[in-house]
Amino acid sequence: MQYLPPLFSGRVLAIETSCDETSAAIVSNGVEVKSNVVASQDAEHSRFGGIVPEIASRMHLERLRKIVWRALEKAGLEVGDIDAIAVTIGPGLAGSLLVGIAGAKAIALSAGLPLIAVNHLEGHLFASLIVDDPPELPAVALLVSGGHTMLIHIPQWGNYQVIGSTLDDAAGEAFDKIGRFLGLGFPGGPAIDREARSGDPEGYSLPRAMLAEGYDFSFSGLKTAVVNAVEGEIAAGRQIRVADMAASFQEAVVDVLAAKAFRAASEFNTRSLLVGGGVAANKRLRTRLEGEARRAGIRCRISPPSLCTDNAAMIAVAGAFRFEAEGASLLDIGAVPGLRAPFRIASQSKTTST
Ligand code: KG4
Ligand code: ZN
Repeated sequence: MQYLPPLFSGRVLAIETSCDETSAAIVSNGVEVKSNVVASQDAEHSRFGGIVPEIASRMHLERLRKIVWRALEKAGLEVGDIDAIAVTIGPGLAGSLLVGIAGAKAIALSAGLPLIAVNHLEGHLFASLIVDDPPELPAVALLVSGGHTMLIHIPQWGNYQVIGSTLDDAAGEAFDKIGRFLGLGFPGGPAIDREARSGDPEGYSLPRAMLAEGYDFSFSGLKTAVVNAVEGEIAAGRQIRVADMAASFQEAVVDVLAAKAFRAASEFNTRSLLVGGGVAANKRLRTRLEGEARRAGIRCRISPPSLCTDNAAMIAVAGAFRFEAEGASLLDIGAVPGLRAPFRIASQSKTTST
């Protein structure tokens, strides 16, 4: 069944600052992206080999105002043309979230607009609606980001059954750690993606943890295997074949993600697979999932890479859904760094906040 959920048709200005991207977007009619401005902080964090929360929140503070104005300018709109403000309240870094929430409240209060609290993970799922051909439900979603790795059964929008998640590192976190270990810099995901293109995915033999068991994931054994293989090369006086290692590591992650996603689709008897989160920007993962889906007669929806990584457009779409379903949030919303599925936000209220 083709299914676009009821979405608020007004213009939503969304703000996303949950991690290290400062982003603002304007979306109208639920899924029409008028602008989506994303300022990455990768350059600032890369010299530390990972995200430094203090720096992240300070940079959000410095940039947010300009990014919001740029989003309005690109859309050819003014604050007076906006109908609602959506903002990510979690999960994410507390300090980073607070900057976005404070900014969103300030605009909502000064312009007299309703405020909509959005779960970042639901945002990643709704990114799959920003396509010409919306996904069918029921679906299985593979959500793979820097902080989360989940398989979710979605009988209806807003009804999420998490059927598997990671027992240790998230997929993106494993990419980042191995990227750093191999000296490829930060963030490791895009770096490994690039490096792997000239490598042999069978160059090193690495484990596929829990391949046949359930829907949970574990990447810590794979990380250890990479470290052991590199140490083995060093002990034997051999050069480390970095491109081969990047390709072999990536292949091991992709094998597990793909196997579990398609097994879940089969068990839940759905012909629709959604893929979201920063790791969904990975070229090898995209090619594998799209190829296997075609062969299995499953419709695979993966957004363009720029909508897989953190962005405010997806927050606007999820906001349009929540606003239509539940009305505005209360103005006392705060950051919820550990917010989880099933993504419902307790302080959502039918009354508007203005
Ligand atoms: O969704 P996202 O932008 O932020 C979180 O919500 O965490 O995901 C960021 C993660 C990082 O770990 C990054 O290394 C990974 O997504 N990532 C990739 C690629 N692009 C971003 N991983 C593999 N291949 C990529 N091309
Ligand atoms: Zn994210």
